[in-house]
Amino acid sequence: MTALDDAPTRSRGLSYQDLLDADTHPVPVVLRRQSPLAPGPTFVPVERYTSPEFHRLEVEKLWKRVWQMACREEDIAEVGDHITYDIANISILLTRSAPDTIRAFHNICLHRGRLLKEKPGRDTELRCAFHGFAWNLDGSLKHVPCKWDFPQVNDDWTLPEVRVDTWGGFVFINMDLDAPPLAEHLGELGEHFERWPLERRFKQAHVAKVLRCNWKLAQEAFMEAFHVVATHPQLLAGIGDSNSQYDVFGNICRAITPNGTPSPHLHWTPTEQDMLDAMFDRSLDEPRLLEVPDGHTARETAGELRRHTLVDVVGAEHAAELSDAEMCDSIYYTVFPNFHPWGAFNRIVYRFRPYGNRHDMAIMECMFLSPYDESGPRPPAAPIHWLGPDDDWTEANELGMLARVFNQDVFNLPKVQAGLETGAIDTVTFANYQETKLRHHHMLLGQWVARP
Ligand code: FES
Ligand SMILES: [Fe+2]
Repeated sequence: MTALDDAPTRSRGLSYQDLLDADTHPVPVVLRRQSPLAPGPTFVPVERYTSPEFHRLEVEKLWKRVWQMACREEDIAEVGDHITYDIANISILLTRSAPDTIRAFHNICLHRGRLLKEKPGRDTELRCAFHGFAWNLDGSLKHVPCKWDFPQVNDDWTLPEVRVDTWGGFVFINMDLDAPPLAEHLGELGEHFERWPLERRFKQAHVAKVLRCNWKLAQEAFMEAFHVVATHPQLLAGIGDSNSQYDVFGNICRAITPNGTPSPHLHWTPTEQDMLDAMFDRSLDEPRLLEVPDGHTARETAGELRRHTLVDVVGAEHAAELSDAEMCDSIYYTVFPNFHPWGAFNRIVYRFRPYGNRHDMAIMECMFLSPYDESGPRPPAAPIHWLGPDDDWTEANELGMLARVFNQDVFNLPKVQAGLETGAIDTVTFANYQETKLRHHHMLLGQWVARP
């Protein structure tokens, strides 16, 4: 046993649990849980990011067998609505075949193989544009043009179906018909989100950007707060970056980064007002959004403001119960391999995946899931707003202040890919605690690709 096994080293400054002790409201028990990954340095082979062979291994051993988030239920709200979900060289077609039934098929015409659909739409059937073969929404064969010429085609010529299940208003698919159920894969995720039911949100924004890096490099930039000091220095006055808590629960891991508390990296002591200004990303030439009242903290003040803004959508009673932690902190979960729902009321959900069949390009998506007044209808789900590899995040106005932060994040990524592609090192290495989520991902990925 190494010394690290005995006492995982942590940053100086208030621990997250210390901050919870000072909350003005009772905090949900799920935030009180601590489940660190056993310590131990990790070295990960660079080929996981740079090798087309490893990408092919991921396609065969991971993507074709793992549960993965394909869309929101609200993306295909009405019978006949359909949407495609592409992963590497595979395309899946999801459709609502009945009011309470969603089905998913390989998105391919059984005649000569054209993709059946390329974009979302609504129809009463799934018809191929090339020669007109058509299937019913449940995948059964509907129409064979010039039937006399296809004596080999029978009524059992159904579209090849993949498995579908739902959680939190998301639709998941799995191409492996023998895989364990989704509930088993998600483990205790439902308990964690009990107080923040994502099925009762609507998709207010959905932005997808193409990046010039491996999909894992992209998601790893959003799985730790370690990079804040170098990449987002403007946030330091109001973020407990290196006091973040990192936990692992089965296939799930999470980070909790406190806001409205000073970074242990600072060599000066910010006031409560400085911390609040940093939380709201206030530019120095802008007027203050909010003053911290005498005798109050930044966390209390931001908590009160955000509780107030939630009254109309979650009701006064529920809003009054919400803790400062739920109002202020960044609680970012990851479900292996690539689904990142944020806890509490932060609205963010990320998904990362390869762009086409490329090992060196990725798609990063950010959705905002917002609560709405449930006495009225659910607002319509936002369609995807695509940004190309050279487009700036700030072109997505709907992301507000996050767009500028994302620009800082993704600025590094093609340079990391380029560095790794030089071949000058064989492994990258992860921090023991602050890169817990990365270690957890690569631990599970190693198990998946080693399966027979
Ligand atoms: S390829 Fe689809 S009908 Fe011919
Ligand atoms: Fe970041």
